[in-house]
Amino acid sequence: MSIPTIVTIGKATQDVFLKSSKAFKPHEHKGVLYEQLPLGQKLDLDEVIFTTGGNVTNAAVTFARQGLHSKYIWALGLDVSSQVILDALDSDGVDTSGVVQDQSYRASYSTILLSSSGERTILNYRGTDLAGDGKPLDLSILASADWVYLSALGNIDLLEVIITKCAEYGVKVMLNPASSELKEMAKLKSLLEDVTVLAVNKEEAQQIVEGQSVEELARHVTHYCPVTIVSDGPHGAVTTDGRTIVTAGMYEDVPVIDRTGAGDAFGSGFLSQFSQGKSLKDSIIFASANSTSVVRQIGAKAGILHLGVTLHDMPLAEKPF
Ligand SMILES: Nc1ncnc2c1ncn2[C@@H]1O[C@H](COP(=O)(O)OP(=O)(O)OP(=O)(O)O)[C@@H](O)[C@H]1O
Ligand SMILES: [Mg+2]
Repeated sequence: MSIPTIVTIGKATQDVFLKSSKAFKPHEHKGVLYEQLPLGQKLDLDEVIFTTGGNVTNAAVTFARQGLHSKYIWALGLDVSSQVILDALDSDGVDTSGVVQDQSYRASYSTILLSSSGERTILNYRGTDLAGDGKPLDLSILASADWVYLSALGNIDLLEVIITKCAEYGVKVMLNPASSELKEMAKLKSLLEDVTVLAVNKEEAQQIVEGQSVEELARHVTHYCPVTIVSDGPHGAVTTDGRTIVTAGMYEDVPVIDRTGAGDAFGSGFLSQFSQGKSLKDSIIFASANSTSVVRQIGAKAGILHLGVTLHDMPLAEKPF
């Protein structure tokens, strides 16, 4: 089998993590935890970490580090954040030649306040949202893909345009919907017939179908698309193709330093193997290892596994659907 080409499309951000054990202490008021920053004062930080994020740019890095042909398409600007994002993707071997760069676009920018307890508050600048018709992107690049991995497009119409194009070209789609896609549930459901793999967490699955356990939810989602993955944080995940159902536990019980990018590492980790013809079981083991590695480090990309890493066994059960 030749090496698969995976195209990713969606938002990109520059993420700046500010760590302070003193300044970012959680304060509780009426059952809600608050970050309290007194106005007019200067507060000391322990550490500042610049990274990049955006769900699909994280996925693109998983694909590239696993030796696949990874192409990223989006519209970015000439601002510092856009440049940093492109440099990060280039240095990981992601093909960014399909990125449209113009001074009228701005990348997203997130400032993440990390307290010592692992709690975080995110200040997010959305950056430029793309129009629903997909302009100015050249979507003919999709024809060169074996798979397209989609998340966080910020616009359900754009998602529809891309999924429809993929169906036309006969390109398989994996979707890991983000909040902007999930809030248009009726539309999202109508698009699932052209999606091959859907990855959602437990709460997201409950917005799509009825069900209590992750297994029940995964079974119900197969009414919409052929392959389903439902993850449940440290409790693991279930994947099924309607014939086999695989239940995975925790890959490793690690101290969580920063869970940003856990879902991206999981979804893209799965597809990096599944697209190469690996079984559901092998794909979910790699997904679990990749996401476990990501939560051990600050930022969504630092922990993404490289090709040739040695994996170990994990609690896992496989049975007929
Ligand atoms: N605390 C943890 N310890 C170990 N592994 C974890 C932990 N949290 C998440 N993971 C791994 O990451 C995978 C995906 O996590 P989760 O179900 O929270 O996804 P998500 O809610 O989509 O995440 P995101 O908020 O990044 O979108 C899990 O199946 C697990 O393998
Ligand atoms: Mg998620």
